[in-house]
Amino acid sequence: MGIESSCDETAAAVVRGQGAGPGEILSNTIFSQLDEHRPYGGVVPEIAARAHVEMLDGIVAQALAGAGIGLGGVDAVAATAGPGLIGGVMVGLVTAKALALAADKPLIAVNHLEAHGLSARLALGVEFPFLLLLVSGGHCQLLVAEGVGRFRLYGTTIDDAAGEAFDKTAKLLGLAYPGGPRIEELARDGNAKRYDLPRPMRGRDGADFSFSGLKTAVRQLTLEQQVDPADLAASFQAAVIDILRDRGRAAMDMFRRDFPQALAPAFVVAGGVAANSAIRNALAALASTEGFEMKVPPPKLCTDNAAMVAWAGIERAQLGLFDPLSVTARARWLLCEVA
Ligand code: KG4
Ligand code: ZN
Repeated sequence: MGIESSCDETAAAVVRGQGAGPGEILSNTIFSQLDEHRPYGGVVPEIAARAHVEMLDGIVAQALAGAGIGLGGVDAVAATAGPGLIGGVMVGLVTAKALALAADKPLIAVNHLEAHGLSARLALGVEFPFLLLLVSGGHCQLLVAEGVGRFRLYGTTIDDAAGEAFDKTAKLLGLAYPGGPRIEELARDGNAKRYDLPRPMRGRDGADFSFSGLKTAVRQLTLEQQVDPADLAASFQAAVIDILRDRGRAAMDMFRRDFPQALAPAFVVAGGVAANSAIRNALAALASTEGFEMKVPPPKLCTDNAAMVAWAGIERAQLGLFDPLSVTARARWLLCEVA
């Protein structure tokens, strides 16, 4: 069983599987708190933590019922132990501890980013090593997944995450939170060449990202003139695509240098922003030019969910990586520290 509560999704799932995957998702229950946070234009940590407390036991019961088993039927209980909004993480981890203690099952404290990273194995059985682009509201990183708990960081954002840039741009356009899907919709009918926006870090050494200059440029435009929302959305999305493509290409060079023996390695794109089809298409084209095979988990497994947490639990359990009940929730927890 997996439990996820690190942001604004309260989720529980039951997954069965082994080896490199794919796994069998027996249930995948999600309660999205979007309605609670929408009036504030973003996730409010206290509201999130309270909603997790109110919802989680019911969500766990639903996930068990959906899988057609009782708590006694699960082999282990995994929960996101970080990184994330600390109040929410604590609710999920404490719930998992209580379940593990009550049912006498082992506990697995899962890094949320590792769960996103391994979701391609759950969904598609992708083999190690693979190149991973993690693009969500909180994270924007390029990594190599060499094994469970073994990640090598190629690049990370030095300011905002890509999803955050989408959300902030959407807010400037007066669109509802979360803005990513709204921007994608608007961009479909927009002229991407209308506004000339910067592509920070493009062409730089390494594979780091930066999005704050792009966000500032969008803000400046909206202050200076009456913008056309569809054209601005399209221009913004085109800039993000250029940035992701450029940084992705740099990481592919690094991967080929580090793993010259890997034939047609997988390029996995995970996290909420991977739900964007324009971004997916651009990255798929890049991957095929560069000799990589792009793999994207289905949208339900790309955004926050508990099936990926359960799966990360399975992968860790197979290696005997269990955690004591004294394990603590962490607001910050880098993926290169999970080993
Ligand atoms: O992975 P996720 O559900 O949560 C975490 O941040 O961990 O990602 C949510 C982020 C939000 O910033 C949202 O705006 C963005 O993913 N997102 C999108 C799209 N769908 C979700 N961004 C661009 N295009 C989309 N279609
Ligand atoms: Zn996430």
